[in-house]
Amino acid sequence: MNNLTVFAVLALAVAVGSIPQGQGQGQGQGQAQGPPQAGQQAQGTKNIIDVYSESVFNYAVLNNRKPVVVFFGSDTSCGACKWMYPQLERLVKNRSDKMYLAKVDTEKLDILAADYGVTASPTIMTLFYGEIVEIVEGAQWSKVVALVNNASKL
Ligand SMILES: *[C@@H]1O[C@H](CO)[C@@H](O)[C@H](O)[C@H]1NC(C)=O
Ligand SMILES: *[C@@H]1O[C@H](CO)[C@@H](O)[C@H](O)[C@H]1NC(C)=O
Repeated sequence: MNNLTVFAVLALAVAVGSIPQGQGQGQGQGQAQGPPQAGQQAQGTKNIIDVYSESVFNYAVLNNRKPVVVFFGSDTSCGACKWMYPQLERLVKNRSDKMYLAKVDTEKLDILAADYGVTASPTIMTLFYGEIVEIVEGAQWSKVVALVNNASKL
């Protein structure tokens, strides 16, 4: 019970510490992503942010030094989100030196989504130093690919 709380706080501290610093620190911390898998796999999940709360969004997305591609969508109410997110994840994992990917569940974090004017599901946007750089609304895969390419040049 108390141990769990301590662990959660510790895991959060590790996450806060490791995200803005990119590579180097936080090696092999499998927290929030499940147990680490084979070398390359664990490496590839480093630039994926699970936005499970607004505070995670604030420190990991808005304060990030690299561009963050934010996926707003919900697996339960949006069919296109189900195929699009895994594809986007593959694309961004392959650019782990250039950018991060953050997933926001629009049903759980509806206020955050509303703050960003999200009305279409999915909505993909690039944020850089907390500013919206580009937005693609709806299931427009080729535009999303262009958005990722553009983000890699920031
Ligand atoms: C990964 O990125 C490299 C370099 O940008 C590119 O040549 C390669 O085709 C990409 N692979 C995939 C699976 O997208
Ligand atoms: C990406 O950059 C190109 C060139 O600046 C621009 O024309 C395009 O609108 C941008 N975004 C997308 C989604 O294609």
